[in-house]
Amino acid sequence: MSKKTKYLVTSALPYANGPIHLGHLAGAYLPGDIFVRYCRLKKRDVIYMCGTDEHGVPITITAEKQGKTPQEVVDYYYQDIKESFEKFGMSFDNFSRTSRKIHHETAQDFFLTLYNKGYMEKKSIQQFYCEHDRMFLADRYIEGTCPYCGAEGARGDQCENCGKWLEPTQLINPKCKICGNTPVIKETFHYFFKLSQFQSRLEEWINSKKHWRENVVNFCKNWFKEGLEDRAVTRDLTWGVPVPLEDAKDKVLYVWFEAPIGYISATKEWAQQIGQPERWKDYWLDTENTKLIHFIGKDNIVFHALIFPAMLMGYEGYVLPDNVPANEFLNLEGNKLSTSRNYAVWLRDYLQKFDPDSLRYCLAINMPETRDADFSWREFQARHNNELADILGNFVNRTLTFVHKYFDGKVPPRGPLNELDQELIARMKTAGQEVGEALDRFQFKEATRRFMDLARFANKYFNDSEPWKTRKTDPERCGTTLNLCVQATYNLAVLMEPFLPFTAAKVWKMLNLPGTVQDAHWDRIGELPIADQHPLGTVEILFRKIEDAAIEAEIARLKQALEGEPQPEPEASTETDDSAMITIEEFQKVQLKSGRVVAAEPVPKSDRLLKLQVDLGRETRQLVAGIAQHYQPEELIGKTVIVVANLKPAKIRGVESQGMLLAVKDGDRLSLLTTDRPVSPGKPVS
Ligand code: 2FM
Ligand code: ZN
Repeated sequence: MSKKTKYLVTSALPYANGPIHLGHLAGAYLPGDIFVRYCRLKKRDVIYMCGTDEHGVPITITAEKQGKTPQEVVDYYYQDIKESFEKFGMSFDNFSRTSRKIHHETAQDFFLTLYNKGYMEKKSIQQFYCEHDRMFLADRYIEGTCPYCGAEGARGDQCENCGKWLEPTQLINPKCKICGNTPVIKETFHYFFKLSQFQSRLEEWINSKKHWRENVVNFCKNWFKEGLEDRAVTRDLTWGVPVPLEDAKDKVLYVWFEAPIGYISATKEWAQQIGQPERWKDYWLDTENTKLIHFIGKDNIVFHALIFPAMLMGYEGYVLPDNVPANEFLNLEGNKLSTSRNYAVWLRDYLQKFDPDSLRYCLAINMPETRDADFSWREFQARHNNELADILGNFVNRTLTFVHKYFDGKVPPRGPLNELDQELIARMKTAGQEVGEALDRFQFKEATRRFMDLARFANKYFNDSEPWKTRKTDPERCGTTLNLCVQATYNLAVLMEPFLPFTAAKVWKMLNLPGTVQDAHWDRIGELPIADQHPLGTVEILFRKIEDAAIEAEIARLKQALEGEPQPEPEASTETDDSAMITIEEFQKVQLKSGRVVAAEPVPKSDRLLKLQVDLGRETRQLVAGIAQHYQPEELIGKTVIVVANLKPAKIRGVESQGMLLAVKDGDRLSLLTTDRPVSPGKPVS
């Protein structure tokens, strides 16, 4: 009897030495998250593991640059990265850290087991040593001239200019990266993992992977052609997982040896967290039924498709990857990303200006699956405005608004179905199947396109059915159209959940459905589950158009980064010049009062303005404020604000405003002034 397949999904553990940018997101995280969310809707047994990679030279070099300890660096970036991921909806079941005890123990056990089974060999080697810093220099701690292309500043492991992999001893004029002195060659020893012994088993295994991406298989075949060599898996460093052998206790495990084991320790930690400490074995040790899937960027292929599998083979009993869908790279406005030049889009900066789902959509439909892709802000704007806002948002909005306006907010019943109605129903069903099949093949671009195609068709269905006409001529027909549009909205909510989880949750709420969209079942997409007379919730706008100015600012910033010009100082100067001084009497002319927002709604035909009713104690004032890009109306209700109470009333877009709200603008972000303790409305600010 075959047991149910289990999915054990991982995304590459990011180094905890810098914030996350859009290239990371597109490479290893967004595809993993979309796939996992889809699996959950299919009600598959799936867990999703990730965490930060906290050892290795990338961390120690950052610590030196920032004048901090490695611990301080990883503590900071663990939080920073975790937060960025959460805000983008990455739905890991556990986001762990390789500095945790459970990881150190798991990694040491791996090393010892492989050692005891005879897969480790101790070898003496000649290595660069810095007499000034009194340490052996890891590859990345050495810089020099590339022997191939002559570029200065090539690293001991690779020349970034020509891309060639190097041995540090090949560098011309090698220098210690810490102090700049010329290092000497000294003898040391390391433990080597006997990768060469796994060549034939790996070859046979990779050859059986008919469903893998071509880029991954070809990459592995090239390595086989060159012949797999034994790899040093220890380092003369102090920051890392100590080698669990007496003769090497002042050495640490090579970060690339222990980091992938982080997937296992994250699963162990998760099992403890859910109170079933043995549960991790159900995934890692059930080789029959578990599908282990590693989402990574292409620079990590060798570790996930060859070295880690060899380690798992050597240990014995562990499941091997079922697939390693590695993505190619994402370029930015036609150029390579460069974190050192700040030529990147950082997630936390992005989030100050735009919504996570817009980026998720744009990256998913343009994912670097089989070749490098390019992210351009203009395309982002076009996809947001023309697809998310004009197609998806518009369809949902016009459907729900229509039901509110003409059917008292209750879903009208369906009458007999015409051909177009039936086509809509059929398309909903096929969309569920086709999007699902594409996701199972890890074809994210196609899956996203097909989801948007359904929204496009639904929007066209609304147009072609002309309910605004049939409302008067044939109310039953109008009811049928709207009933089906609501059913389509429901189906779109489920279909969009993997791609646009935040929007899906909003639509679910607007449909006034119980539980969450994640309770829905993918296989029921195409059914019409919304009952006649079902009362809808409040409608809100899903996507507001992105203005040209916002996009131009982003493009200008990148252009500056590329040209190496200094970044503009975003903060306004806080210094005051004396001639602008006012007296206390002058200041007291302005009557500032606390107010409480009691109602808020958009000003028609304006993207920028909200109309608020503000309780000022003895009276309620109507204010018009340019804050629609920064606050949703409903989040303002109940907020305490500071109001200029003696400002002459003025008409803004034809709507009277009887005062002004105070707010602070920081870059593109606007925050309303409020009080740090609750106060009653109408109290003077002094
Ligand atoms: O390339 C990187 O960012 C690595 N930190 C990825 C590690 S993936 C896994 F092996 F942990
Ligand atoms: Zn040095």
